[in-house]
Amino acid sequence: MKITFYGHACLKIEVNDVHILVDPFITGNPKADHIDIETIKADYILLTHAHQDHTLDAEVIAKQNNAIIVSNFEVTNHYEAKGIEVHPMNHGGKWDFEFGVVKYVNAIHTSSFPDGSYGGQPGGFVIEGEHKNIYIAGDTALTMDMKLIPMKTKLDLAVLPIGDNFTMDVEDAIMASDFVECDKVLGYHYDTFGYIEIDHEEAKRKFFDSNKDLMLLDIGESIEL
Ligand code: NI
Ligand code: MN
Repeated sequence: MKITFYGHACLKIEVNDVHILVDPFITGNPKADHIDIETIKADYILLTHAHQDHTLDAEVIAKQNNAIIVSNFEVTNHYEAKGIEVHPMNHGGKWDFEFGVVKYVNAIHTSSFPDGSYGGQPGGFVIEGEHKNIYIAGDTALTMDMKLIPMKTKLDLAVLPIGDNFTMDVEDAIMASDFVECDKVLGYHYDTFGYIEIDHEEAKRKFFDSNKDLMLLDIGESIEL
């Protein structure tokens, strides 16, 4: 499983040559201006919630690639009306896709489109693919619901927001890492706007002091799991 960070909360996951893009917000992110969305391959686009900093480029990339958008029922309705193929889900449900099993799990946040229309309830994803299991938390507060995840799934990586203000901060993400029983964490949702700037070294040290590993990738950088 290869994971590429495209800035803010956008990831690309490659499992057995299937390209899964998560929460594309690239053209609106000045820090990602070296990423050309026309070069991004996507077979599926997973959206955690409707906020613009997670969906801005979803329509264009979906249409360029004939990708299937996977999200909650309200978000997929929004894209189905634009002629995009979708797969609707809701909280607690899972589906066996060609690349693995995806479960839509709880997040504590809000979800509306930029025009104010309803974007369902926000979520995260647990993806089980190619013998590797990852949790993508989406935008969320620390929540006891995270403790449910390791009861079903042994995680190899947890992708957690760490930027504070709109989501968990670093210290809550360390607790979330305990809750999901995964010490290997990829941080996201930080630095993009003034509200969520963090001190990278301090964040890494706090994780290290808790016997955990925090990865912070450059935009465009990949890791192999
Ligand atoms: Ni959000
Ligand atoms: Mn966000």
